[in-house]
Amino acid sequence: MRNYKKLGRALLLLALPLIALILNGCSTQLKQSALDPKGPVAQMQYDVMMLTLVVVTALFIVVGGVMAYTVWRYRLRKGDDPNEIPDQSHGNPLIEVGLIVISAVMLVIIAVPTLKGIAYMKNDPVEDYKGEAIEVIVTGHQWWWNFEYPELGIKTSNELNIPVGRPVKLVLKAADVIHSFWVPKLAGKTDLIPGQINRMWIEADEPGMYWGQCAEFCGDSHAYMLFRTIAMEAGDFEAWVEHQRSAPIEPVEAIAITGKKLFTEKGCIGCHMVGPVGGMVGPDLTHFGSRSTLAAGWQENTIENLREWIQHPEKVKPGNLMYLGVGSMPGIKQIRKEKGLSDEEVAAMADYLHTLK
Ligand code: CUA
Repeated sequence: MRNYKKLGRALLLLALPLIALILNGCSTQLKQSALDPKGPVAQMQYDVMMLTLVVVTALFIVVGGVMAYTVWRYRLRKGDDPNEIPDQSHGNPLIEVGLIVISAVMLVIIAVPTLKGIAYMKNDPVEDYKGEAIEVIVTGHQWWWNFEYPELGIKTSNELNIPVGRPVKLVLKAADVIHSFWVPKLAGKTDLIPGQINRMWIEADEPGMYWGQCAEFCGDSHAYMLFRTIAMEAGDFEAWVEHQRSAPIEPVEAIAITGKKLFTEKGCIGCHMVGPVGGMVGPDLTHFGSRSTLAAGWQENTIENLREWIQHPEKVKPGNLMYLGVGSMPGIKQIRKEKGLSDEEVAAMADYLHTLK
């Protein structure tokens, strides 16, 4: 008996930090908390989840309570004969039917809002919003995001800018393997699947930066496949769109001009677009300097981080194409091996990229 008590105490001691750790995940202060909804889709999903939680918690308390009481009430006591068989009965039809009915009612309580919620998510928000929605084509790449606004004629990478209070219809595509689009504060996740188009919509109630993350394992740097959703007031969003339409800024300082030359010479332009020129294998860099992050939201867009990213991409994001080189093209890795990049060259390129506001 004493051993059992010791074991129980030890288990409790072990369980307490674990419970604290798990409960910490419920903090609404976290950047990727689904418990802090900031848009109608996330709010609906949150409400369904809370309703389900209430129903299953009630069930757990009733069923667990009855079970615990029964175990305690009919335990083996001093003086009982352990070989004696208890009274055998055939159950109670009233209780059995009652339990089935109660279970069915509880399922209906959960199912109705769930089905309504699925329809709300899947329906085209334009019907409800009289055509005020905007459309963004989201393409997942290993390991970055491309955002194209077909109606507005602009595209950007890794930072999804949206207007506040307007639904944004997302057309989800994958360029290579399966990814998953997830901005916990705005909506649940939807997979991006090669050869298939999936759809969802989001809307932000208030301006702010909402953290996004690829939520489907997609290779080496899956954990670093982040993005930001930046919700802006209508006027700010229009200004942003205008700015995105503008031509890339021409460098004026000598070092940045050198950087621009190197950007072409070293082959970067083969994969990255700047304005109308360049390849489309990597993120569009036309207005790279105006983004707050680099390497798909993985790091702050500071000059030091940018230099490190250009010089040692494999350290910053293992497995990325900037390091490995691309298909039949000469490959950046080859260029690096043959010509290398001096610290001065890296600094010049970083300066140039930062002029691209
Ligand atoms: Cu893309 Cu994980």
